[in-house]
Amino acid sequence: MLLIGSGGREHALAWALANSPLLTKLYATPGNAGIAEEAECVSLDVGDHQSIADFCRDNRIELVVVGPEVPLVAGLADDLRAAGIRVFGPSAAAAQLEGSKGFTKDLCARAGIPTAAYGRFSDKATALRYLADHALPAVIKADGLAAGKGVIIAEDRASAEAAVADCFDGAFGAAGAEVVIEAFLEGEEASFFALCDGRTALPLATAQDHKRVGDGDTGPNTGGMGAYSPAPIMTDALIEQTMAEIIRPTLAAMAEAGMPYQGVLYAGLMITASGPQLIEYNVRFGDPEAQVLMMRLKDDLLVLLNAAVDGELDRVSVRWHDEPALTVVMAAKGYPGAYQKNTPIDGLEALDNSSDVKVFHAGTARTDAGLVAAGGRVLNVTALGHDIADAQDKAYRAVGRITWPDGFYRTDIGWRAVGAVGDDSVEPITG
Ligand code: AMP
Ligand code: GLY
Repeated sequence: MLLIGSGGREHALAWALANSPLLTKLYATPGNAGIAEEAECVSLDVGDHQSIADFCRDNRIELVVVGPEVPLVAGLADDLRAAGIRVFGPSAAAAQLEGSKGFTKDLCARAGIPTAAYGRFSDKATALRYLADHALPAVIKADGLAAGKGVIIAEDRASAEAAVADCFDGAFGAAGAEVVIEAFLEGEEASFFALCDGRTALPLATAQDHKRVGDGDTGPNTGGMGAYSPAPIMTDALIEQTMAEIIRPTLAAMAEAGMPYQGVLYAGLMITASGPQLIEYNVRFGDPEAQVLMMRLKDDLLVLLNAAVDGELDRVSVRWHDEPALTVVMAAKGYPGAYQKNTPIDGLEALDNSSDVKVFHAGTARTDAGLVAAGGRVLNVTALGHDIADAQDKAYRAVGRITWPDGFYRTDIGWRAVGAVGDDSVEPITG
């Protein structure tokens, strides 16, 4: 197998795949120091689809798993399939569910999928006219991929107009050439994951992310500073409602449009007073949500991915540990702004032999001097517990044993489920 990516999500996927008795050899590109414990990391140019296909042929790769969205939106899965290589992940056409917010909103409108009311614009003047009598707050979104930065929630008209102008003036590059303006939804957010084979959707699990960099959900947005699974708000009834009103109609509409969706479908939901509404789709596992999902997965991930690729999801089921999992992201000081690289990290070895705590590497490298940070989000300290409070306690205890003076983390991951962690129960990072 070949796994594409270098984050904590890919370390979690590599770790789960490495447990499969079906796996004979796992390569990863580019990988990281944690992934290197489960896979042989190779240096390939993921943007050069032909070179990936050549590698697959030369190494008799039977399945490629694509972790991040950018190569999917760029058509890597299409080009590999055209070369006869099996791939887990959607075509470029189907990846528009993440690659174009306007595409997804139009699909929801056609299929009657609950989502915020919206307008879709390709010029500033029309967008500003639509905004003139729009309720506040208004949500302004760059249409394309913007690494999680393309969404502005404007509380007043001046900032809404400024956001529209910024998008069209190139603040998000080509991603902002089209803009979606939508109504603000109130409720609690949850993430829902389903495995799809083009026709059938198998519900996986739910999770809750923490996007803001600071305690109490303050400061700028990040890729995610911590997560837990399951999300208590997602009752069985809400999961069934989400499958019936959002996921299955999406799969049917995509198949009808001639772009069947194969891969993992990650629905960002707002649980409103009138039920679940779709905020957005991602066409991949979440990061750090995959880390808590893989920690809870009882079944063989490779069997599940193979069933999705082969159109056989109606023949499989999936089991999860009842215990919740929680992950704390340790990031380089300065993230999501500028940060230093190559700062030393110690203490991981001592944590290794516990079955309910696992440290996934998100941005690390191994040097002669030892393990160093090599990215913004660097470690995902993940634990299973008999409840979320217990998982939180175990994760933070492990965090406290890691020595990384140049790192930081939120001290309140899981607060919605258990209340904030008191300062004195968290050991500081020492160095
Ligand atoms: P992302 O697109 O993942 O960067 O997410 C942007 C965030 O903006 C979401 O996680 C929500 O918190 C928020 N958001 C996006 N659309 C809406 C909406 N229509 N109403 C309320 N909040 C929204
Ligand atoms: N954690 C949010 C994401 O993966 O998009």
